[in-house]
Amino acid sequence: MMLVSAKEMLTKAKAGKYAVGQFNINNLEWTKSILQTAQELQSPVILGVSEGAGKYMCGYKTIVGMVKGMMEEMNITVPVALHLDHGSYEGAKACINAGFSSIMFDGSHLPIEENIAKTTELVNACGVLGLSLEAEVGSIGGEEDGVVGAGECADPEECKAVADLGVTMLAAGIGNIHGKYPDNWAGLSFETLDAIQAKTGDMPLVLHGGTGIPEDMIKKAISLGVAKINVNTECQLSFQEATRKYIEEGKDLQGKGFDPRKLLAPGAEAIKATVKEKMELFGSVGKA
Ligand code: 13P
Repeated sequence: MMLVSAKEMLTKAKAGKYAVGQFNINNLEWTKSILQTAQELQSPVILGVSEGAGKYMCGYKTIVGMVKGMMEEMNITVPVALHLDHGSYEGAKACINAGFSSIMFDGSHLPIEENIAKTTELVNACGVLGLSLEAEVGSIGGEEDGVVGAGECADPEECKAVADLGVTMLAAGIGNIHGKYPDNWAGLSFETLDAIQAKTGDMPLVLHGGTGIPEDMIKKAISLGVAKINVNTECQLSFQEATRKYIEEGKDLQGKGFDPRKLLAPGAEAIKATVKEKMELFGSVGKA
C-alpha cells in the first residue's frame, strides 16, 4: 500500500464516530512498532513528524524513504498517512517536496489574517497534489520542540473562517495542551468544542495533546466531532521507562556493553502496547 492522504480515513472516522490516532515518530524502532500495531489491529494510522524529529531523523526525504521502505518490506496494507506535525510555512513546503502525504501548517501564533493567507496558499498546493492539510486555530499549550505555550480556547468564528478555506482537518484549541497535564488542569472545554463543531459541520476536528486526557473526555470529544487524536508524550514515556528498566536490570552487560538492537527492543514493545491501547480507546480497530 502507498502512503495515502488522511482525507478518506478522517471522513470515515467522523461519520463513524471514532478517531484515527496520530502517533509521532522519532526513529526507526518507533515507526516499525506503530506500523506493526496498525497492521495487526487493522487500523488506519497517521505517522506524525515534528520539525525537530525531522531534523533528528536526517531530514524529510530520509523519513519518506524509511516509511515507504518499511511499508513495502512489512507488507503493510492498512491506510497510512505520513504527516508533518506543527509545520512552519517553510517546513510545509519542504515536506510537500519530500513526498509526505499530509501536512499540518500551524499558523496559530500568527495574526488570523496571515494564518488565513498562508493556509490558503497551502490549500491550493496540497489540493493539486492530493495531500491532506491540517490547519490550527487557537494555540495548543504545553511544550513541543522546546516551545512552551498556555492552552487556549479557539474562537469558533475563526475556526469557521479557516475551515471554509478547504482544509482537510482542523485543530482547534479547547484547553488541551501537549505533554503532561498539570494537577490543576480545568479539563477540555466541551462548550467550545460543541460551538466549533456547530460552525464547521462535517470538518474532522483534531485533538492535540492526547497524552493524559481521561478516557471519558476522549470519548466525549469523539462524540462531538473529533476524528483525529495526536499522541506523542505517552509513547516517549513508555519507551523511556522500558529502556530504563532494561538498563537497570543490566540484562545485556556481559563485558561487551549493550547491543543496540537488544537495548531498544523493550522500548519498541512498550510503544506497541501504548499504540494498541490508544487505538482501542479511539475506536479505530478494524476500521482499515
Ligand atoms: P502529547 O505529546 O501530549 O501526546 O501531544 C502530541 C501532539 O499533540 C502532537 O501534535
